[in-house]
Amino acid sequence: MSKWTTNNIPDQSGRVVIITGSNSGIGFEAAKALAEKNAEVILAVRNQAKGDTALTQILAEFPQAKLSVRILDIANLASVKNFADQFNTDYKQLDLLINNAGIMVPPYGKTIDGFESQLGTNHMGHFALTAQLYSLLKSTPDSRIVNVSSNAHKMGRLNLDDLAWETRNYIAWRAYGDSKIANLYFTYELSRKIKSAKQSVMVTAAHPGLTASNLAKGAMIRFFNAIFAQSGPMGALPTLMAAIEPSAKTGDYFGPSGMSEWRGYPKRVFSNKLSHDDDIAAKLWTISEELTGVKFQI
Ligand SMILES: NC(=O)c1ccc[n+]([C@@H]2O[C@H](COP(=O)([O-])OP(=O)(O)OC[C@H]3O[C@@H](n4cnc5c(N)ncnc54)[C@H](OP(=O)(O)O)[C@@H]3O)[C@@H](O)[C@H]2O)c1
Repeated sequence: MSKWTTNNIPDQSGRVVIITGSNSGIGFEAAKALAEKNAEVILAVRNQAKGDTALTQILAEFPQAKLSVRILDIANLASVKNFADQFNTDYKQLDLLINNAGIMVPPYGKTIDGFESQLGTNHMGHFALTAQLYSLLKSTPDSRIVNVSSNAHKMGRLNLDDLAWETRNYIAWRAYGDSKIANLYFTYELSRKIKSAKQSVMVTAAHPGLTASNLAKGAMIRFFNAIFAQSGPMGALPTLMAAIEPSAKTGDYFGPSGMSEWRGYPKRVFSNKLSHDDDIAAKLWTISEELTGVKFQI
């Protein structure tokens, strides 16, 4: 099979795309690739200045690009609601939602809404955002949602009775793994619900392997990345394939094709057995609706 690259992305004129966390790393590269192909790309970012810088950089390379910056703090449910309300007012279509923003292994902390910070940012915020944009996605033909997960989902083992790590010693990598397996439970459960409602929205997931970005903060891991990580444009390819590939089916997962899926051109990959536990996925869905206060209208 030939290598999947940005050459596989057809003209995107007339399509509207939201990418969370698109001022940096994989989100930025995905925004650039889709803007180059004439999609209208909304850079959904928490910092206006960083968003403006990203927009200027993309425009410098592709002056025809149709881009805007909108403020979204995915770790704050009020900000998520404000973003979604504004977007639903201003737009009549949403072709592609890429849930990409993320944080990795910070010291223990909670979001303003009381979630452990990685689960709150990487899963709960995107769950609430997708739910509040779902009507628009449903009414847009051939729309897609892409959730960006990680190889680190293999470290995830959610404790549904203590999602905020209040009764256990915090293990930052475990909590990151939990948030990334949560991305997959969300993908697979949403996929099941969409299928049983016979709707046409597609939901897929992707992971970028090991990609140089601003995600890693520690000196050791930055050193490791400098040697082993692939470039941002390569790391964005699985996300782009999950977003665009015509043969993709709802619930598909994409990642790099190289050894241990660390690097390389993208292909369809498979997440671990635990991520396919329907019972945990259904429970997490119910808890996510309860704790975010947002219900999907599927
Ligand atoms: N790089 C890898 O090797 C790797 C591997 C597996 C999975 N991933 C996943 O890939 C995704 C993108 O990460 P990346 O590697 O591109 O890292 P990155 O360069 O750090 O980009 C992360 C983006 O998320 C944004 N973000 C973080 N918290 C946010 C919040 N509360 N509200 C809105 N935006 C927020 C960041 O904004 P600021 O600039 O304002 O912080 C940044 O734009 C993440 O979901 C990550 O888990 C990455």
